Amino acid sequence: MFFGNEIFRLDRVDSTNNFAANLINSQLCQNGTAILSEEQTDGRGQRDQVWESESNSNLLCSYILLPDNVSVELLPYYNWMLSLALLETLQFFNVAAKIKWPNDIFVNGKKICGVLLENQIGDGLIKSMILGVGLNVNQILFKNDNATSIKLQTQIDYEIEEVFKVLNEALNKWAPILLNYPEVIKEEYLKSLYLFNINAKYKVDGRVIIGSIKSVNHLGQLLISIDGKEKLFNHKEIEFIHA
Ligand code: BTN
Repeated sequence: MFFGNEIFRLDRVDSTNNFAANLINSQLCQNGTAILSEEQTDGRGQRDQVWESESNSNLLCSYILLPDNVSVELLPYYNWMLSLALLETLQFFNVAAKIKWPNDIFVNGKKICGVLLENQIGDGLIKSMILGVGLNVNQILFKNDNATSIKLQTQIDYEIEEVFKVLNEALNKWAPILLNYPEVIKEEYLKSLYLFNINAKYKVDGRVIIGSIKSVNHLGQLLISIDGKEKLFNHKEIEFIHA
């Protein structure tokens, strides 16, 4: 596996994830192909949200993975690996970030990066994956008060290409670890998880509960200890109250 072994550089696209899906459907890509765009006219976020980004200010990219005979059980590990590579990339630019489960990247209570993973699976195997990354680099004004960027954190402008290069290197460092020692990826992910092993408030079924994150499982669910009992949550079943 080699992230960024082929790179499509675009000025403008609806969504780099859509472009990636078209490449996969028309078999015009390789394992590790990346799509990088200066601008998106229909950038997509999680939960059907729009992903807003000023033109030419942030990293907007998608990676295509075409794993060979890899079980769906490894899906969450790809997600965790991407989060780790993003943390490392931010660290390189002197930004200390944490992962807010499952895969938002936060700095000082504000979101600096989001990812959108889109998979095709069949016969218990991963057929293809699109890893979409929106990492705020030089944008300083956001409609959403809860957003930040590398520039807002460090007061320094960076070349988007440089950030992309650092991310490719981080992904290529973690990729063989994922295939050979997946448990290492999980351990490192847990170490970097915001509110890991700390009692904090969450909203579940409209009620506030106090719990402590203990782990994640191979389905990507979050394991929280509440009053001494462990309970599993899917993404939409629990809301963080602290940022
Ligand atoms: C989120 O809501 O946190 C996920 C945001 C993901 C945005 C990125 S930008 C590049 C890629 N293309 C898209 O349309 N979305 C992802």
